[in-house]
Amino acid sequence: RFDAVLFDLDGVLADTAHIHFAAWRRLAEELGIPLEPRFEDRLKGVDRMTSLDLILAHGNVERTVEERRVLADRKNGYYQAAIAEQSPDDLLPGARRVLEEVRAAGLKTALASASHNAPPLLDQLGIRPLIDAIANPAAVKAPKPAPDLFLEAARLVGVAPGRCLGVEDAVAGITSIKEAGMVAVGIGDPTILTRADHVVPAIADFHIGDYLG
Ligand code: G6P
Ligand code: MG
Repeated sequence: RFDAVLFDLDGVLADTAHIHFAAWRRLAEELGIPLEPRFEDRLKGVDRMTSLDLILAHGNVERTVEERRVLADRKNGYYQAAIAEQSPDDLLPGARRVLEEVRAAGLKTALASASHNAPPLLDQLGIRPLIDAIANPAAVKAPKPAPDLFLEAARLVGVAPGRCLGVEDAVAGITSIKEAGMVAVGIGDPTILTRADHVVPAIADFHIGDYLG
């Protein structure tokens, strides 16, 4: 019943969710805003400017549009410096196997990541050849949790939403998949990813055969 699997990147295939958060935490500290660890789940899957706005609101800090642009660029600089040396060794365990198995089962693979750093990161990780299409977050109207990015990924591989499986580690991403009318597989904690249809602890526990019946 599935013809495509649409993957998030950060925290699903790449071990970068905590790197995004470390970069945000560094920026927040510079602004005098302490970010407790549980804030990480609120930022997962959330685009760059919205993440900054959530942090500023959390600290009751106001900044102009221009100042916010500079701050978002600074966070991105911290993030890019941290991922500069990423290589295939930094893939989450099982990520490459999952992509290979999905393709071997005759399904399409596509990426639905909010990150503007996704294309170069896929090259560094060596998995770009295993992905049929990459949805461009700049090309859709509304970011996650809206369904647009997952719908765009489905469109690019020519598969109806009802025949797509979406894989996500973020609450915003699971909502996006469900709003798109797809089946959602959560990577992480089922008490956090409550809207997911299935939840596994890590991508290493994902086996496409479990969903093909
Ligand atoms: C992913 C990550 C978020 C990040 C967003 C934008 O969704 O989970 O933490 O904020 O991408 O990433 P970017 O690299 O464009 O700042
Ligand atoms: Mg993610």
